[in-house]
Formats: sequence, C-alpha cells, structure tokens
Amino acid sequence: MSVTTSKPAASQSAAPPLPGTRADGTARLEIGGKTVELPVIVGSEGERGLDISKLRAQSGAITLDEGFVNTGSTTSAITYLDGENGILRYRGYPIEVLAEKCDFVEVAYLLIYGKLPNPAELDTFRTSLSHHTMIHEDMRNFYTGFPRDAHPMATLGSVVGALSTFYQDSLDVRDPRQVEVSVHRLISKLPTIAAYSHKKSCGQPLMYPRNDLGYCENFLHMMFAVPCEEYHVDPDFADALDMLLIVHADHEQNCSTSTVRMVGSSDANLFASISAGICALWGPLHGGANQACVEMLEKIGADGGNVRKYVDLAKKKDSGFRLMGFGHRVYKNYDPRAKLIKATCDKLLAKIARHDPIFDIAQQLEEVALADEYFIERKLYPNVDFYSGVIYRAMGIPVQMFTVLFAMGRLPGWIAHWIEMHHSPTKKICRPRQIYSGDTLREFVPIDKRP
Ligand code: SDX
Repeated sequence: MSVTTSKPAASQSAAPPLPGTRADGTARLEIGGKTVELPVIVGSEGERGLDISKLRAQSGAITLDEGFVNTGSTTSAITYLDGENGILRYRGYPIEVLAEKCDFVEVAYLLIYGKLPNPAELDTFRTSLSHHTMIHEDMRNFYTGFPRDAHPMATLGSVVGALSTFYQDSLDVRDPRQVEVSVHRLISKLPTIAAYSHKKSCGQPLMYPRNDLGYCENFLHMMFAVPCEEYHVDPDFADALDMLLIVHADHEQNCSTSTVRMVGSSDANLFASISAGICALWGPLHGGANQACVEMLEKIGADGGNVRKYVDLAKKKDSGFRLMGFGHRVYKNYDPRAKLIKATCDKLLAKIARHDPIFDIAQQLEEVALADEYFIERKLYPNVDFYSGVIYRAMGIPVQMFTVLFAMGRLPGWIAHWIEMHHSPTKKICRPRQIYSGDTLREFVPIDKRP
C-alpha cells in the first residue's frame, strides 16, 4: 500500500469542495491490488484532509483511528485552533481580543449567528435572554427530589434534558423559529438551573433570577444572595467570570461538542443534545479536569507542597496519576486560554488582597513540569483547566460547581455546532464503522452439553 498525491487529471470529476474549502488534487492509495484516488481538501487556514467518504465503496477497506486523533468528523466555520502555535479564534476573532473587548453575551451571539452583533441586534438578544431566565415553576420541584449531595453536573444534565418535557412547543429541529426559542431558553436558563443546584446542595432557598442584572451578575446573585438581606455582586468577580465564560465558549470538535453533534445528528431535540454534552463534559479527562486539578493542588498542599514528588509521580506510567489541568490533545504549546486565566488570577487575587496557597503551588508545579524532559518531550503544557479553579475559589464557588461553570461557558459553542451540523449540505446521522475482532462463526451448544 502506498499513498501519493497528484493533481486531478482534467477528466476526473471530483465532487464540488465543501463550503469554505478547496480541492487540491488527490492522494493515491494502493490497497489490495486496487488504486484508489482520495480527494485532498484544504481548509481556509490551509489544513489538508483526505476525503475518504468513498474509500469503502472503492476499496472495501475502512480507516481505524482510536479516539479520532487523526480524523476530522466535519468541516466547520466556527472555531479555528492551531495547537502548535497556541492560536484560538472564534469566527476569525482571536479570543484575546474578544476577552478584552466583548462580554460573554456578545461572544455567544458571535458564535451562534456567525457575526458580531450591531447595537440593535445585541440589545434585542440581551432583552430576549433576560425574559427567559426563569424555569417552569414545577421544575423547581426537581430540586426537592435530588439528594443534597447530588453532584451539580448530575442535576444540570438531568434538568436540561427535562426542559424537553416542559417546553414541548420548541422541539422541532426543522423549524428555525422553534430552534431559536430553544436557543434563547437554554442560554437564559442554564445559569438559573446551575445556581439552583448549588442552593440545593447548601440547603438555602432557590433565588429567582433578576432581569435588571447582567448575565454573570445575575448568576452570582442567584448563587450567593439570600432572601433575608440585600446582596451586591462584586463587579470584579462578575468581570472575571465573564472572561472565563468567554474563553470556555468553544473549542472546535472536543469530546463534549462532538457528543452534541453525534446526538443531534439523529434529529434529537436541542435540549436532549445539550444534556448529552453536559454528561460528556463531566469526565475528569475533559471538563471535569478543573475540579480534579484543584483537588490535586489541595492534595499537594496538604502533603507539604512537594511539587517535584507529584511531577515525578505523573511520569510513572503505572502510577495512574496525571497532572490534572496539564496536557492537551491539540495544544502542543501553551493553551492561550490558560495564559488569559493565569493573568486574571494574578490581577483578581491582588485586587481582593487574597493570597491563595494553591495558586503558588500551581505556579511552582508549572515551573517544575515545564523544565522537565518528560513534559518537554511530550509537549505538555497547562491547559484551560489548570488555573481556572483558582479564580472560582476566590469567588467562593464550591469546587463541585467548577465544571458546571465550564458548561455555562461552553453552551453557545455546543449550540453553534448543533446548528451548523443541521445546516450542513452533507448532514448524515453519525454512525462510525468498526473492525470486528471477536469470535468467528461458532456452533451453538445446548446447555446440557456444555462442559
Ligand atoms: C479539556 O479537546 C479539547 O479541546 C478539550 C478542552 C475543551 O476546551 O473542550 O480543551 C477542555 O478537556 C482540557 C483537557 C483537560 N484534561 C486534563 O487536564 C486531564 C489531564 N490531561 C490528560 O489526561 C491528557 O493530556 C488529555 C486527556 C487532555 C489528552 O490526552 P491525549 O491527547 O489522548 O494524550 P495521551 O493521553 O495519549 O498522552 C500522550 C502522552 C502519554 O505518555 P506516553 O504514553 O506517550 O508515554 O502524554 C502523557 C501520556 O501519559 N500525558 C500526561 C498527561 N497528559 C498526557 N502525563 C502526565 N500528566 C498529564 N496530564
């Protein structure tokens, strides 16, 4: 088998390139005595891919790629990331610029509608969001039924899935108006659902949202206000949360976004698809790493702060221990989000004159790991989850809520991908193939004849 690339002969009729891509010849695959020409497509940033959509029909063979390390599931115009150079852009805008010049609601609009809103569009969007913040009063009863120590990611995924039982008037995935209503309902209600999970866990009354507050202010108010006294949200905390939600808002085909696309590809409604994404995000290798990272830093602190001991442990394959918040499937450079978050950590802790020992431990851990050959060789750097927990702690957010805040940030990205998938001219239900490795045909043995 060999693969060579060539420019298409004039006679070859290749399928028209997908929107935003261009054809660039073919790759010739010699397999099983056959020669298969695989179209090469090039994306708007020069990424090249082999289109294998006709491979099985032409060769009888499929490809195999555990974890899709080398496999693109789709083309997408939403987010571009360059892992080698630590670049992340939403709809072409660098996240550093968006984090400085926009707020989260504006970035959510950009991801979902594909452009930065003009003042009228943003005002309409904000107004709509502020009128969907409450959940159906009967949904509040769910929280009575959940056990007090329920993990808030479990309640979040359950209540979001249950939105499809209370809002049955906006489930039709083919009706743009119903989809838009579901989008606004989700973005508005997620903070309410999230804050209620926290209130349940600490036995305090659920606080209604307030339409006079901004998106992050409203969430922090529902988290920390109590009915018996006035509560004023610290604007520094609201600003820090806004930045965190922006840098979490999308990240191309990560595990949870691919899950939302996979579930959505069956034409399951948006609430069900997002609920599935929440469950995928919960895993400690994915969004759950922010909770696992702070728990790891606290453990190192409790163990005398010996970071070298834990860096060495993470290098031992059989230890089962990894530096949480370190390493990334795509970034082989410093995660640009971690840079922004670390800088905000510095500013916020100084502003509130708080010293958090785990921030010191995190910085020491980074310094030791980044100087260690094991991490250098594998290009392992701090990722988005390494410092975010320090900010959440400074705000008084309980550690079990960290991944819930990741979900709040990622929601517009999930929605944008779900909509893009439905608008794709080549949309298909996701159904990967496999290479079977089990028993070949066996004779059935009656139970009385089995040894
Ligand atoms: C997120 O995909 C996204 O975009 C995700 C995300 C998003 O915004 O959606 O960015 C959010 O999920 C960030 C990642 C959060 N997870 C963690 O911080 C958990 C710790 N990190 C890892 O488990 C790991 O780095 C992953 C899961 C993030 C990536 O795993 P890969 O790409 O499958 O890489 P791998 O497990 O094959 O590791 C390659 C090598 C291995 O060593 P060798 O077998 O080559 O000797 O690097 C080692 C790994 O053992 N390695 C680590 C390590 N991460 C990888 N060793 C120690 N500590 C680590 N954290």
